[in-house]
Amino acid sequence: MRVLVAGGAGFIGSAFVRRRLDAHPGDSVRVLDKLTYAGRRENLDGLPGDGVEIVEGDIADRDAVAAAALGCDAIVNFAAESHVDRSIHSPGEFIQTDVFGTFVLLEAAREAGIRHLQVSTDEVYGSIESGSFTESSPLSPSSPYSASKAGGDLLVGAYHHTYGADALIVRGSNNFGPRQHPEKLIPLCILNGLAGDPLPVYGDGMQVRNWIFVDDFCAAIDVVLDRGEPGVAYNAGGPDELPNIEVVRGILALTGREESLIEHVADRPGHDRRYSLASDAVRALGWEPAVRFAEGLGRTVEWYRDNEWWWGPIRSGEYRAYYERQYGRALT
Ligand code: NAD
Ligand code: DAU
Repeated sequence: MRVLVAGGAGFIGSAFVRRRLDAHPGDSVRVLDKLTYAGRRENLDGLPGDGVEIVEGDIADRDAVAAAALGCDAIVNFAAESHVDRSIHSPGEFIQTDVFGTFVLLEAAREAGIRHLQVSTDEVYGSIESGSFTESSPLSPSSPYSASKAGGDLLVGAYHHTYGADALIVRGSNNFGPRQHPEKLIPLCILNGLAGDPLPVYGDGMQVRNWIFVDDFCAAIDVVLDRGEPGVAYNAGGPDELPNIEVVRGILALTGREESLIEHVADRPGHDRRYSLASDAVRALGWEPAVRFAEGLGRTVEWYRDNEWWWGPIRSGEYRAYYERQYGRALT
């Protein structure tokens, strides 16, 4: 199979490319990626030479997408603006990529008669106080990011319903692991812990997230790509739910820092209190998450400790200005 992986130079997309080529050595992958601040060619280093081709391009550009889709048997779409806080500052890019870009990919898949797998998020359901969201829970997104992802999901459903397109969705919970951009809670706190910078916790830190190790999420996507039903959305949630403050305390312990480094800062506007996914449908396809949170966190801290070559350029570039604007203080 030749798979077009949109957004394959990002955090989860690159882990998926690795997983796909490991698990299906006969497959090949073409990555279409705009290489925004979040996408890097280095994320695909070390893969078998002729297994992956990287094309720089925008999923909202019809010509670039049509050319990239030529000869492919399926599209998996990871490409998105992915950070909730940035969506609060500048929502326009989220609508352009996450909604319009998804439409362009769906059109290309429909024209070519190939499968389109949309990678989506638990955030489309909004917040849940108790229990877990199933795939039939109503969509109730809270942020410009989650609303734009919900827009993409609705288009996928409409393309299947109206045109009979072979389009389907996997909705993941909070991923963590190697190569995640430090704007996100876990790598941000690991790098601040290693540097001795304060760890910013929004509000009371009692917001709960359902953490999944990135390789487990990619395994779920892999199974759904091969065995999922057209028109169906599959939830893929992690095995552990934790309040943010517990996550941050775990990182302090692993980086050898005191709790006095925790800094409670202003809460995120419209902050969802809790996410939780029931993943029975993807489990019925044979998927199980293999990595518990504590093990995954230890592996992740080790990876960042050992790979300053990867995060050093990020922490000294555009991210510094973003950090100052978001947190009102400079990184050391
Ligand atoms: P990321 O920000 O690390 O990577 C996004 C990638 O998309 C980057 O390589 C970027 O260059 C590329 N991209 C952005 N705009 C593009 C465009 N217009 N055209 C082509 N490429 C473009 O994001 P991630 O955390 O790896 O998330 C990947 C996908 O998974 C997203 O769709 C996200 O909504 C979804 N998701 C993420 C999580 C999570 O916890 N990170 C959980 C569930 C679902
Ligand atoms: O739930 C899946 C989603 O997880 C994905 O769809 C998104 O692409 C991904 O970015 C992630 O969104 P979150 O907003 O949950 O992730 P983030 O790492 O930004 O924040 C995790 C929690 O930590 C959230 O409750 C906000 C909080 N937080 C975050 C940052 C960056 C803090 O308390 N302090 C921080 O500095």
